[in-house]
Amino acid sequence: MARRRIIAGNWKMNKTPSEAVALCAELKDLVKNDDVDVVYCVPAIDIVPVVEAVKGTNVHVGAENFYIVDSGAFTGEISAPMLKDAGVEYVIIGHSERRDIFGENDILINQKVKKAFASGLTPILCCGESLALRKADTYKEWIERQITWDLDGVTADQVKKLVIAYEPIWAIGTGETATADQAQEVCGLIRSLIAKLYDQATADEVRIQYGGSMNAGNAAELLSKPDIDGGLIGGASLKPDFGKIVNA
Ligand code: 13P
Repeated sequence: MARRRIIAGNWKMNKTPSEAVALCAELKDLVKNDDVDVVYCVPAIDIVPVVEAVKGTNVHVGAENFYIVDSGAFTGEISAPMLKDAGVEYVIIGHSERRDIFGENDILINQKVKKAFASGLTPILCCGESLALRKADTYKEWIERQITWDLDGVTADQVKKLVIAYEPIWAIGTGETATADQAQEVCGLIRSLIAKLYDQATADEVRIQYGGSMNAGNAAELLSKPDIDGGLIGGASLKPDFGKIVNA
Protein backbone atom coordinates (compact mmCIF):
# COMPACT_ATOMS: atom_id res chain seq x y z
CA MET A 1 0.00 0.00 0.00
CA ALA A 2 1.08 3.55 -0.56
CA ARG A 3 2.28 5.20 2.58
CA ARG A 4 2.16 8.97 2.83
CA ARG A 5 5.60 10.54 3.01
CA ILE A 6 6.46 12.35 6.25
CA ILE A 7 9.29 14.88 6.39
CA ALA A 8 9.93 16.18 9.90
CA GLY A 9 12.41 18.74 11.11
CA ASN A 10 13.95 18.25 14.53
CA TRP A 11 15.07 21.72 15.52
CA LYS A 12 16.76 20.38 18.67
CA MET A 13 17.88 23.20 21.00
CA ASN A 14 17.89 25.89 18.34
CA LYS A 15 15.86 29.06 17.67
CA THR A 16 14.51 31.52 20.18
CA PRO A 17 10.76 32.22 19.87
CA SER A 18 11.30 35.23 17.61
CA GLU A 19 13.85 33.35 15.51
CA ALA A 20 11.38 30.45 15.26
CA VAL A 21 8.66 32.70 13.87
CA ALA A 22 11.13 34.17 11.36
CA LEU A 23 12.17 30.65 10.23
CA CYS A 24 8.50 29.68 9.70
CA ALA A 25 8.05 32.73 7.50
CA GLU A 26 11.24 31.94 5.56
CA LEU A 27 10.20 28.33 4.92
CA LYS A 28 6.48 28.93 4.34
CA ASP A 29 6.43 28.83 0.53
CA LEU A 30 9.36 26.41 0.24
CA VAL A 31 7.70 23.55 2.16
CA LYS A 32 4.41 23.58 0.25
CA ASN A 33 3.53 20.06 -0.90
CA ASP A 34 0.09 18.52 -0.55
CA ASP A 35 1.42 14.98 -0.95
CA VAL A 36 3.72 15.09 2.06
CA ASP A 37 3.16 15.44 5.81
CA VAL A 38 5.48 18.25 6.90
CA VAL A 39 6.25 18.54 10.63
CA TYR A 40 8.32 21.00 12.63
CA CYS A 41 9.40 19.49 15.97
CA VAL A 42 10.43 22.50 17.98
CA PRO A 43 11.71 23.43 21.47
CA ALA A 44 8.96 23.66 24.09
CA ILE A 45 9.12 27.43 24.35
CA ASP A 46 8.69 27.79 20.58
CA ILE A 47 5.55 25.63 20.38
CA VAL A 48 2.95 28.34 20.95
CA PRO A 49 4.41 30.92 18.55
CA VAL A 50 5.15 28.24 15.90
CA VAL A 51 1.58 26.85 16.04
CA GLU A 52 0.39 30.40 15.45
CA ALA A 53 2.95 31.04 12.69
CA VAL A 54 2.02 27.93 10.64
CA LYS A 55 -1.77 28.40 10.87
CA GLY A 56 -3.35 28.05 7.45
CA THR A 57 -0.30 26.23 6.01
CA ASN A 58 0.39 22.53 5.44
CA VAL A 59 2.82 22.38 8.37
CA HIS A 60 2.08 20.30 11.49
CA VAL A 61 3.79 20.95 14.81
CA GLY A 62 5.61 18.42 16.96
CA ALA A 63 7.32 18.50 20.34
CA GLU A 64 10.79 17.14 21.04
CA ASN A 65 9.97 15.64 24.44
CA PHE A 66 7.35 15.35 27.18
CA TYR A 67 6.78 13.56 30.49
CA ILE A 68 4.37 10.67 31.12
CA VAL A 69 2.26 12.29 33.87
CA ASP A 70 -0.51 14.80 33.12
CA SER A 71 0.33 17.37 35.81
CA GLY A 72 1.95 17.75 39.20
CA ALA A 73 5.27 18.20 40.93
CA PHE A 74 7.66 17.48 38.06
CA THR A 75 9.79 20.61 37.90
CA GLY A 76 10.96 21.45 34.42
CA GLU A 77 8.74 18.98 32.59
CA ILE A 78 5.93 19.43 30.07
CA SER A 79 2.89 17.15 29.79
CA ALA A 80 0.93 15.59 26.94
CA PRO A 81 -2.27 17.60 27.75
CA MET A 82 -0.20 20.79 27.62
CA LEU A 83 1.12 19.83 24.19
CA LYS A 84 -2.33 18.85 22.91
CA ASP A 85 -3.92 22.05 24.17
CA ALA A 86 -1.23 24.08 22.41
CA GLY A 87 -1.96 22.38 19.07
CA VAL A 88 0.85 19.82 18.94
CA GLU A 89 0.20 16.63 16.93
CA TYR A 90 3.52 14.74 17.00
CA VAL A 91 6.18 14.09 19.61
CA ILE A 92 9.71 12.74 19.20
CA ILE A 93 10.41 9.90 21.65
CA GLY A 94 13.67 8.08 22.30
CA HIS A 95 16.01 10.32 20.34
CA SER A 96 19.62 9.19 20.87
CA GLU A 97 20.43 12.58 22.42
CA ARG A 98 17.77 11.98 25.10
CA ARG A 99 18.96 8.41 25.59
CA ASP A 100 22.67 9.31 25.80
CA ILE A 101 22.74 12.79 27.37
CA PHE A 102 19.64 12.61 29.58
CA GLY A 103 19.76 8.91 30.45
CA GLU A 104 16.37 7.89 29.06
CA ASN A 105 16.04 4.12 28.90
CA ASP A 106 13.71 1.82 26.98
CA ILE A 107 11.37 1.42 29.97
CA LEU A 108 10.66 5.16 30.05
CA ILE A 109 10.57 5.37 26.27
CA ASN A 110 7.99 2.58 26.17
CA GLN A 111 5.88 4.43 28.76
CA LYS A 112 6.15 7.60 26.68
CA VAL A 113 4.99 5.81 23.50
CA LYS A 114 1.92 4.45 25.29
CA LYS A 115 1.19 7.78 26.98
CA ALA A 116 1.51 9.68 23.70
CA PHE A 117 -1.04 7.40 22.02
CA ALA A 118 -3.37 7.58 25.02
CA SER A 119 -3.18 11.38 24.78
CA GLY A 120 -3.83 11.61 21.05
CA LEU A 121 -0.26 12.48 20.08
CA THR A 122 1.57 10.63 17.30
CA PRO A 123 4.98 9.38 18.45
CA ILE A 124 8.02 9.65 16.23
CA LEU A 125 9.95 6.81 17.88
CA CYS A 126 13.70 6.93 17.30
CA CYS A 127 16.13 4.04 17.24
CA GLY A 128 19.69 3.68 16.05
CA GLU A 129 23.07 2.19 16.77
CA SER A 130 26.42 3.66 17.80
CA LEU A 131 29.50 3.46 15.61
CA ALA A 132 30.89 0.75 17.92
CA LEU A 133 27.82 -1.46 17.35
CA ARG A 134 27.96 -0.81 13.62
CA LYS A 135 31.62 -1.83 13.52
CA ALA A 136 30.97 -4.89 15.69
CA ASP A 137 28.21 -5.88 13.24
CA THR A 138 25.67 -6.23 16.06
CA TYR A 139 23.54 -3.26 14.96
CA LYS A 140 20.65 -5.35 13.65
CA GLU A 141 20.14 -7.14 16.96
CA TRP A 142 20.41 -3.79 18.75
CA ILE A 143 17.72 -2.14 16.63
CA GLU A 144 15.42 -5.14 16.99
CA ARG A 145 15.85 -5.05 20.76
CA GLN A 146 15.15 -1.31 20.97
CA ILE A 147 11.98 -1.55 18.89
CA THR A 148 10.73 -4.67 20.68
CA TRP A 149 11.16 -3.06 24.10
CA ASP A 150 9.84 0.34 23.06
CA LEU A 151 6.65 -1.17 21.61
CA ASP A 152 5.87 -3.53 24.49
CA GLY A 153 2.10 -3.37 25.07
CA VAL A 154 1.48 -1.07 22.09
CA THR A 155 -1.43 -2.30 19.95
CA ALA A 156 -1.41 -3.02 16.22
CA ASP A 157 -3.91 -0.19 15.62
CA GLN A 158 -1.52 2.19 17.36
CA VAL A 159 1.51 0.95 15.43
CA LYS A 160 -0.38 1.61 12.19
CA LYS A 161 -0.30 5.31 13.13
CA LEU A 162 3.24 5.25 14.51
CA VAL A 163 6.25 6.87 12.88
CA ILE A 164 9.61 5.16 13.47
CA ALA A 165 12.84 7.04 12.76
CA TYR A 166 15.99 5.05 12.10
CA GLU A 167 18.84 7.32 13.09
CA PRO A 168 22.30 5.75 13.18
CA ILE A 169 24.12 7.74 15.84
CA TRP A 170 27.30 7.85 13.80
CA ALA A 171 25.44 9.75 11.09
CA ILE A 172 23.83 12.40 13.33
CA GLY A 173 25.33 15.85 12.93
CA THR A 174 28.51 14.34 11.51
CA GLY A 175 28.00 14.99 7.83
CA GLU A 176 28.43 11.24 7.36
CA THR A 177 25.14 9.94 5.96
CA ALA A 178 24.32 6.26 5.86
CA THR A 179 24.29 5.19 2.25
CA ALA A 180 20.83 4.70 0.83
CA ASP A 181 21.46 0.94 0.86
CA GLN A 182 22.57 0.97 4.50
CA ALA A 183 19.49 2.99 5.48
CA GLN A 184 17.18 0.75 3.44
CA GLU A 185 18.68 -2.38 5.02
CA VAL A 186 17.73 -1.28 8.53
CA CYS A 187 14.37 0.32 7.59
CA GLY A 188 13.46 -2.94 5.83
CA LEU A 189 14.55 -4.88 8.88
CA ILE A 190 12.33 -2.72 11.10
CA ARG A 191 9.35 -3.34 8.82
CA SER A 192 9.96 -7.10 8.89
CA LEU A 193 10.18 -6.95 12.68
CA ILE A 194 6.81 -5.15 12.85
CA ALA A 195 5.35 -7.90 10.63
CA LYS A 196 6.75 -10.49 13.05
CA LEU A 197 5.60 -8.69 16.22
CA TYR A 198 2.19 -7.76 14.76
CA ASP A 199 1.13 -8.69 11.23
CA GLN A 200 1.83 -7.76 7.62
CA ALA A 201 -1.01 -5.21 7.42
CA THR A 202 0.48 -3.31 10.35
CA ALA A 203 3.96 -3.49 8.84
CA ASP A 204 2.58 -2.14 5.56
CA GLU A 205 1.12 0.90 7.30
CA VAL A 206 3.78 1.95 9.81
CA ARG A 207 5.84 4.83 8.46
CA ILE A 208 9.61 4.61 8.76
CA GLN A 209 11.93 7.60 8.42
CA TYR A 210 15.67 7.83 7.99
CA GLY A 211 17.57 10.47 9.97
CA GLY A 212 21.23 11.43 10.10
CA SER A 213 22.85 14.15 7.99
CA MET A 214 19.98 14.05 5.52
CA ASN A 215 20.18 17.08 3.23
CA ALA A 216 19.03 18.54 -0.06
CA GLY A 217 21.72 16.58 -1.90
CA ASN A 218 21.06 13.07 -0.59
CA ALA A 219 17.33 13.15 0.25
CA ALA A 220 15.98 12.02 -3.12
CA GLU A 221 18.11 8.86 -3.19
CA LEU A 222 17.30 7.94 0.41
CA LEU A 223 13.58 8.56 -0.15
CA SER A 224 13.57 6.44 -3.31
CA LYS A 225 14.10 3.31 -1.21
CA PRO A 226 11.04 1.09 -0.72
CA ASP A 227 11.04 1.07 3.10
CA ILE A 228 12.05 4.71 3.66
CA ASP A 229 8.87 6.77 3.97
CA GLY A 230 10.39 10.04 5.06
CA GLY A 231 13.10 11.79 6.98
CA LEU A 232 13.83 13.23 10.41
CA ILE A 233 16.10 16.12 9.72
CA GLY A 234 18.26 18.06 12.16
CA GLY A 235 20.68 20.66 10.81
CA ALA A 236 19.12 21.00 7.35
CA SER A 237 15.65 21.63 8.85
CA LEU A 238 16.83 25.08 9.97
CA LYS A 239 17.62 26.23 6.44
CA PRO A 240 15.81 26.83 3.14
CA ASP A 241 17.25 23.43 2.14
CA PHE A 242 14.42 21.88 4.15
CA GLY A 243 12.04 22.89 1.38
CA LYS A 244 14.18 20.95 -1.11
CA ILE A 245 13.97 17.86 1.11
CA VAL A 246 10.19 18.18 1.38
CA ASN A 247 10.01 18.34 -2.40
CA ALA A 248 12.77 15.80 -3.16
P1 13P B 1 21.22 15.87 11.57
O1 13P B 1 20.30 15.95 10.39
O2 13P B 1 21.72 17.23 12.01
O3 13P B 1 22.33 14.88 11.35
O4 13P B 1 20.37 15.33 12.81
C1 13P B 1 19.61 14.19 12.65
C2 13P B 1 18.75 14.04 13.84
O5 13P B 1 19.21 13.74 14.92
C3 13P B 1 17.31 14.28 13.67
O6 13P B 1 16.60 13.87 14.79
